[in-house]
Amino acid sequence: MSKTRTKAHPVVSVVTLGCKLNQADSETIARQLAGEGVQVVDRAVKGADAFVINTCSVTHVADRKARHAVRLARRLSPNAQVVLTGCYAETAPADVALITGADFVARNAEKPLIPERILEKLRLSGDPAAGCGVAESSGRTRAFVKIQEGCSEMCAFCIVPYTRGREITVPMEAVVREVKARESEGYLEVVLTGTQLGNVGRDLGWPRAEQGPLRLLTQLLEATTIPRIRLSSLQAQDMHPELLDLWQDARLCPHFHLPLQSGSDPVLDRMRRHYTADEFRRAAALIRERVPGASITTDVIAGFPGETEGDFEATARLCEEIGFAQMHNFPYSRRPHTGADKLAGHLPPPVRRERLERLLDIGRRSSERFRLAQVGETVPVLWEQQSGNLWQGLTPNYVRAYTSGETDTHETGLGNTIRHVRLTGVYADGLTGALQSEHS
Ligand code: F3S
Repeated sequence: MSKTRTKAHPVVSVVTLGCKLNQADSETIARQLAGEGVQVVDRAVKGADAFVINTCSVTHVADRKARHAVRLARRLSPNAQVVLTGCYAETAPADVALITGADFVARNAEKPLIPERILEKLRLSGDPAAGCGVAESSGRTRAFVKIQEGCSEMCAFCIVPYTRGREITVPMEAVVREVKARESEGYLEVVLTGTQLGNVGRDLGWPRAEQGPLRLLTQLLEATTIPRIRLSSLQAQDMHPELLDLWQDARLCPHFHLPLQSGSDPVLDRMRRHYTADEFRRAAALIRERVPGASITTDVIAGFPGETEGDFEATARLCEEIGFAQMHNFPYSRRPHTGADKLAGHLPPPVRRERLERLLDIGRRSSERFRLAQVGETVPVLWEQQSGNLWQGLTPNYVRAYTSGETDTHETGLGNTIRHVRLTGVYADGLTGALQSEHS
């Protein structure tokens, strides 16, 4: 999505909250609008002609952010059309439009209607450029490609099956077509996105459905030439040697996001997760054995109902032991309709908060250790953007790299290129690096 504005075309802000599924949906909406001559920006801007607020509802904080985003849009541009969509549109009270000031509420299944709805309004308001078909070039370097919608797992804490419905696999030919399309637009990386990627193909009755990701990735590696393919997440139970051996192809990014949620078996059982702490431990060991240098990142919930101090200690120990490259830690948030909502033993907020702090501390330390261990290595980075005099981008194993962008030949302008750096030290949330000359 473009980051600069000229008022020759109507401007639409597409604001995305939540997960990579939402990012994939927003990119589809943005692409369609841009193809109709609309200038799309990926943040709320003053004076925009319309806003799409693509929301999340995974916690009550996410709900609050959704309401805030709609009000902000209203304030920034009082006469603009404001569309509220995404998971909060599924869980919000019926009068959410009234409460927030949105003009139109589109449920997840109604997202495909949004571009036309906006264009219609822009045409009605007499904006001559709407619908003239001037495509915008994208300023992004990674494209999110949705390979699955929904979730059929019913984890006790999670609202996603209620907001997105049951799992639906995107047909393989459509995924290949989309990856090729992004490749021809100049993207160097696609992120394959869904909630339970290990289950792809299960709803379509693929033979040996437990090997859906193996089948899809094999096909993508054969049928496309995009330099990088990344998976948004997998589960511990999806890890098996045959799948991991695909990562011998360097086009697959060695980054595994495996949500742990808890390191205590009784809690995992009450969460309705499909692995034990030991099975998770073995999955992480298998990744390290088969994909050297891979990063393992995770999500952990602090203070699930009934979590004892002993349960929490087991989680903390497992996190220390595994040494995650990044941890996304959340205090348990009570969601209506979910299994956990009905469980006994909801913990008071200060207990959840205190456990969260301990997880955050473990996460900070293990992330720094993981990054420090890579200092001295030379790695390819997909460079994204420049801020101040620093370029930043991502290594294949999902570490943010920073460089001044200067080599001995003083080359600049790294955006959307893959260039090597020698990693020199820990910096902010990532690592600094010295850009290597193409010929070194
Ligand atoms: Fe949030 Fe919906 Fe994603 S609840 S995490 S935006 S599936």
